[in-house]
This record gives sequence, structure tokens and C-alpha cells, in this order.
Amino acid sequence: MRVMPDVSNDLPSREVLFDFHGVPMIHSFSANWEKIQNFQARPDDILIATYPKAGTTWVSYILDLLYFGKTSPERQTSIPLYERVPFLEITISSTDSGVDLAERLTTSPRLIKTHLPVQLVPKSFWEQNCKMIYVARNAKDNMVSYFHMDRMTLFHPDPGDWSSYFKRFLEGNILFGSWYDHVNSWWKKKQTHDKIHYMFYEDMIEVKLIYHILFLEKLCCFLGLSSSLEERKQITGGVQFDNMKKNNMVNYSTLQVMDFKVSQFMRKGKVGDWKNHFTVAQNEEFDENYKQKMKNSTLQFRYEV
Ligand code: A3P
Repeated sequence: MRVMPDVSNDLPSREVLFDFHGVPMIHSFSANWEKIQNFQARPDDILIATYPKAGTTWVSYILDLLYFGKTSPERQTSIPLYERVPFLEITISSTDSGVDLAERLTTSPRLIKTHLPVQLVPKSFWEQNCKMIYVARNAKDNMVSYFHMDRMTLFHPDPGDWSSYFKRFLEGNILFGSWYDHVNSWWKKKQTHDKIHYMFYEDMIEVKLIYHILFLEKLCCFLGLSSSLEERKQITGGVQFDNMKKNNMVNYSTLQVMDFKVSQFMRKGKVGDWKNHFTVAQNEEFDENYKQKMKNSTLQFRYEV
């Protein structure tokens, strides 16, 4: 029987961050730590890794369509995406978790999502040489999106007001830790590990259809999948923001741990919304801080498209 993740009965309304192996964490994502660390990956598992709010759902949906859109079209209308692509570290209830969901998957390959920093990924994914897709999003939009997610997700730590959130983001004192450490350590790992495909939210959002189709082509090439131009066009249409926003199987509207009156999961889906949140002074502070933190990094982000 399928489960409907609803952690609201088992968890306090708002959790508090604590240090977990050097990363700010909450109980909901660490309670099953032994099980998570002992997860037995299979060689064809595909791990989708992101810092929260970088486009995880979008790329999960794309992968699900690429692998199963043709062979099992019924799953698109009957199984919520969070069950098709389980979130490895989530505790669903005292008896169920993301690990359990992943182990119950009968499909091959299994698509699995994580927000873990690279150093905390269960070792079997490396031992089995699994393919991994990492999606990164520019820090300013990522911060804004995360702020709204924390506001609406009932068990996430209270984000406080925008200015205090802004400071905590720069300090890395938010759930799953520093954006800077996350994107850079996955990037560094990618340089020596050819099974990591590192992508950018800003590339997925290219307004011109042709770029999205090319982006899919690159992704298919990494995955060793062949797909026709027609299929890629169809997928591109299905994963447009407006289509995903009204699709109850991907927009999280069936989850009770999010308050959709506070914000939407599919909120704006834009590059550059940070301009509606950052004050001029915050932008200057951010840019200065960014220069310092990223001075040794070769990563380059776009803030508008
Ligand atoms: P916003 O809050 O800026 O709207 P994640 O899935 O990692 O939690 O990321 C969620 C963010 O990705 C949200 O950003 C959401 O709107 C955006 N997103 C999801 N699907 C999208 C799509 N098809 N096009 C553009 N943005 C999308």
C-alpha cells in the first residue's frame, strides 16, 4: 500500500536546528541516520542532489518522465512525485521514512533525492558508482526561495524576518548548512568523479525552447538515454512552470506539512526574484561577502536570464 507522507502527527510544529556532523540539521532529516548511512544503493540508482530550493522537483520530474513517461504513463496521474522520487533523509513517521520508500520502489532505475552535503552521502552510492545529478541555483534566488519554503513548511525552523534570515544565510546557519559549502564541495567532487553531472537552475529556465531541448539532450547523453526530438519537446512542455504548478502530482499540494496559505511550493519559478527582496545595502553586503567566500571557486552563476 502506498503511503502519503504526513509527518505532522509525529513532529513538533517548528523544529530547532542543531549541529550534526558540522551541518545545521533537524530531527526530521537525521532521526534515521543509521538507516540512511547503511542504505544499499544499486549500480543503476540515480541520485538527485541539491541544496534545498535549487530546482530538485523540476529535475526529478524531468528524470521521471525521461525514464518512465513512455512505459508507465499512469504513474504520472496516480503517484505523487515525492513517492516516485523519495527524499532519502526524510522521516515520514515512526515507522516510515524516505529510505523505506526508496527500498519499496519496484522501478529500475530508482530515482532518489537528497539535500545532503557531499561528505554525508551514504557510502554505497560511491561504492556502486551511481550516477548523480547535482543542481545548483544562484545564491540570491536560492536564498529567497528557501526563505519562503521555511515560512510555509510547518516543521522547518522558524525563518524569522527577512533581514535576520538574510544574515543567517550568509553565516550558513540554516537547515542543511552553508549554500557556499554545499555547491562548492559538490563542484570539487565533480572534478574527480565523472559520474556527477553538475547543472544550473538558470540553464534549465532558458526561455527559448531550443535551449531547453539542448539541455535535455546533454542530460540524456550523461544518462546514456536516447530520446527523440519529439519526446524531448513533449517533456519540455510538461515541465513548464505553469504546467507543474497546476499538476497536483508534482506541486506538493497533497502534503499537509506545508501551509499553502503562507506561500506556494511552485512559487514564482524565476531568475532574479531576489531583486524584489534584497535592499540595496543587503545586495552590497551580499556581493562583498560572496567575493570572499567564492574567491577560490571556479563556479559561475547567472542572476538574470
Ligand atoms: P521559487 O520559490 O523561486 O519559485 P526545489 O524543488 O529544489 O524545492 O526548488 C523549488 C524551486 O524551484 C521553486 O522556486 C520552484 O518554483 C522552482 N521550480 C520548480 N519547477 C519549476 C519549473 N518548471 N520552472 C521554473 N522553476 C521551477
